[in-house]
Amino acid sequence: MDNIKFINSIKFNNKVAIVRVDFNVPLDKTLKITDKTRIVKGISSIKHIIDNGGRCIIISHLGRPQGQGYEKKFSLNNILDCVSEELKTNVKFIDNYYDENFNINNLSSKVILLENLRFYKEEKENSIEFAKKLSSFADIYVNDAFGTCHREHTSINMLPRLMKESCAGLLIEEEISNINKILNDYNKPFTAILGGAKVSDKIKVIEKFIELADNIIIGGAMSNTFIKALGGNIGNSLYEENKLSLALDIIYKAEKNNVKLVLPVDSKCSKSLGDQENILIFESNKIENKYSSFDIGPKSLKIFSKIIKNSKTIIWNGPLGVFENKNFNEGTNQMANFISNATKNGAFSLVGGGDSVSAIKKNNKENDISFISTGGGALLHLIGNGYLPALKILRAID
Ligand code: 3PG
Repeated sequence: MDNIKFINSIKFNNKVAIVRVDFNVPLDKTLKITDKTRIVKGISSIKHIIDNGGRCIIISHLGRPQGQGYEKKFSLNNILDCVSEELKTNVKFIDNYYDENFNINNLSSKVILLENLRFYKEEKENSIEFAKKLSSFADIYVNDAFGTCHREHTSINMLPRLMKESCAGLLIEEEISNINKILNDYNKPFTAILGGAKVSDKIKVIEKFIELADNIIIGGAMSNTFIKALGGNIGNSLYEENKLSLALDIIYKAEKNNVKLVLPVDSKCSKSLGDQENILIFESNKIENKYSSFDIGPKSLKIFSKIIKNSKTIIWNGPLGVFENKNFNEGTNQMANFISNATKNGAFSLVGGGDSVSAIKKNNKENDISFISTGGGALLHLIGNGYLPALKILRAID
């Protein structure tokens, strides 16, 4: 991650900057923002550019539209007021910028927000034509979309190749400096907590943590694959059949490196998610047929709590149970509490990924975590691979 050019080294006076942010924020059914963190965090670079005499064109995606034009629920118009409020300035919204008659020079606004890039199928195609159009709007390219830096999309990948001057923004700088404390500058004991459904999504990250960590706590449905691979009976629980030998391989590698791979010892189970009457705790490797594990049990919580309490560096990604169901959210909620307590006692903690960050916020622990990343997939990519494709490009240009 060395040699990336950052925003502070660029002069913006009388220049137009096109700023790729990740304003992919969650909206409710009435299209109101339910969590504006990504906007709040992404606004600093825009302020910096304006304060230094520049003009800004903001570009982003929102959700996963079809790429066939306008879809109301994915329109960036839904977030326009929030962006204007955060910037304390009127932001002009433009929806027809890929039209050949569109001329950005006719606009005098200091800050312009362009409609969702993904309304054009070309955004995901890393299209040189679309990149040419976007590059014609500005003098300088700023990438501050940390959460999207693992994608090879036009606005992230092709566009900076066509710009004379490109750099990374303040949010990316902050993310990299904090992730560095996990990858290069950590204190031991180091504990990684990984949850979620699939081992396959996290193989590279687990392998990286086998190099770095002392403990890897595994929860969520992915722990079922490990328990099954070890010969346990997981009842009807979700697991990945074609990843059983991979799971054994990971267990073997961890042992060889003296890393404790910690699996749940008990599980909160029921026959179905809707079955509230019949919730039982089983040993995680002795789950009755017809029952599925949906959360970790009390003994596992005690074990995990002790490990986290004794850790000096902690990273958490992924829920430990079916977090959205109130009967099975305790494991995930308790992680938020354990990590917050360890942080108060001096540990460095980093949390990233949708459900883990929601759990932190739901439990009002935001201020008790050392750093909350805006990236999910991007964070995992950076940890697992040691680089992000988008940042490699910024480096190659300079
Ligand atoms: C995210 O929410 O992880 C980023 O905004 C990237 O979105 P994507 O997974 O739809 O590319």
